[in-house]
Amino acid sequence: MTIVLGIESSCDETAAALVDDGRTIIAQRIASQDEAHRPYGGVVPEIAARAHAERLAPLIKAVLDDAGLSLADLDGIAATAGPGLIGGVMVGLVSAKALAMASDKPLIAVNHLEGHALSPRLADASLTFPYLLLLVSGGHCQILLVEGVGRYRRLATTIDDALGEAFDKTAKILGLGFPGGPAVERIAATGHAKAVALPRPLLGSAEPNFSFAGLKSAVLRAKQANVHQDADIAAAFQQAAIDCVIDRTRKVLGTIARPSALVVAGGVAANRSVRAALEALAAEHGLKFVAPPLALCTDNAAMIAWAGLERMALKGFTPDPFDFVARPRWPLDPDAAPVRGAGVKA
Ligand code: KG4
Ligand code: ZN
Repeated sequence: MTIVLGIESSCDETAAALVDDGRTIIAQRIASQDEAHRPYGGVVPEIAARAHAERLAPLIKAVLDDAGLSLADLDGIAATAGPGLIGGVMVGLVSAKALAMASDKPLIAVNHLEGHALSPRLADASLTFPYLLLLVSGGHCQILLVEGVGRYRRLATTIDDALGEAFDKTAKILGLGFPGGPAVERIAATGHAKAVALPRPLLGSAEPNFSFAGLKSAVLRAKQANVHQDADIAAAFQQAAIDCVIDRTRKVLGTIARPSALVVAGGVAANRSVRAALEALAAEHGLKFVAPPLALCTDNAAMIAWAGLERMALKGFTPDPFDFVARPRWPLDPDAAPVRGAGVKA
C-alpha cells in the first residue's frame, strides 16, 4: 500500500490529508479562512499567507495523529506548487520540501488544477481516460480533455471571468457575503429565474469559449434598478450561467471523439443545479456523468495527495527536485493558445 501526505494552501483553505492508493482518505483536515477574509469581501493574499504559515504545521501533525501514523510510514509528500496566491503556495511547498528532506521521502510538486482534474478518479475507480472535464473554480473555467495523468488538452476557456468569480461577484452585488457561490445557490432556490432578463454571453458562438463579465455587469444593473427581488436576480444569474456552461460544453462534445465520461470538478461543481444540468447533458449524449462528492469539489488536500499517488504510479516516475519553484501561473495545457483577457486569479 502506498500512502501519500497531501498539502493544499493555494488560496484560502489550509488543508492536509493522507490518502492511499486504494482510494482511501485515511485522514484529512481543512482549516477554512472565511472568517479572516469576510470583512474584506474576498481573499486578501497577505492574510492568507500568514494564516497558512500559522496553521499548516499543526494541521499536518493532527492528520498524522488522526491516522496513528508517523512520517516514516509515508511513501511520498505532495503539495500544491501552483497556480495560486504565491505566498500561500510557498508556505505549503516549502513545508513539503522540509518534510520530504527530513524523512527521505519523494517530493511531488502538484499542479492545483491537476488535483481538481484527477479528483473524480479518487471518488470513482471506474473512471477511465480520456474524459471530458469541465473545470469550474474561483480562478478557472475551462473544458479539458483529460487523456492521462499529465496529459491535458484545453478545448475551451474563459476570455474574462471564471465562473466561480461570477458567482462571488453576484453575491457581493446582492450583499450575500463571502464566500459567494453557496450563498447565491441558496437564495436562487427560492427565486424565479424568468423574473429577470439577463444575457447569455457567447451563447451559440463558434469558438467554444466562455465569457461572464457581461453577465456580471447585467446583474449589477438589475440590482441597481431596484425593482427585482434578490432571490429572482440570483436565480436568473444562476440559470444564465448554467445555460452558457451547457451550450459551451455541448459545442465541445460535438467536436471531439466520444470520451469515456463527462466530468465536472472544481468549487462550482458543488452547485447542485450546475451538476443536474450537466448530468442531463451527459444523458442526452449517452455518456456516463461523474461529479466528485461536494467535499472533494472545493479546495482540499485529498485531491492533492491523490494527484501525487497518480504521478507516483506512472512508469518512470521521478520525484521533483528540492529547488522546485512555486508557480503563480501554471497552465495544465502549456500548448494551448493564449486567449484574449483570460485571467488566472487563483
Ligand atoms: O475550487 P475552489 O474551492 O477554489 C479555487 O481553486 O478557486 O473554488 C472556489 C469557488 C468560489 O468562487 C466559490 O464561490 C465557488 O467555487 N463555489 C460555488 C459553490 N461552492 C463553491 N459556486 C456556486 N455554487 C456553489 N455551491
Ligand atoms: Zn481550487
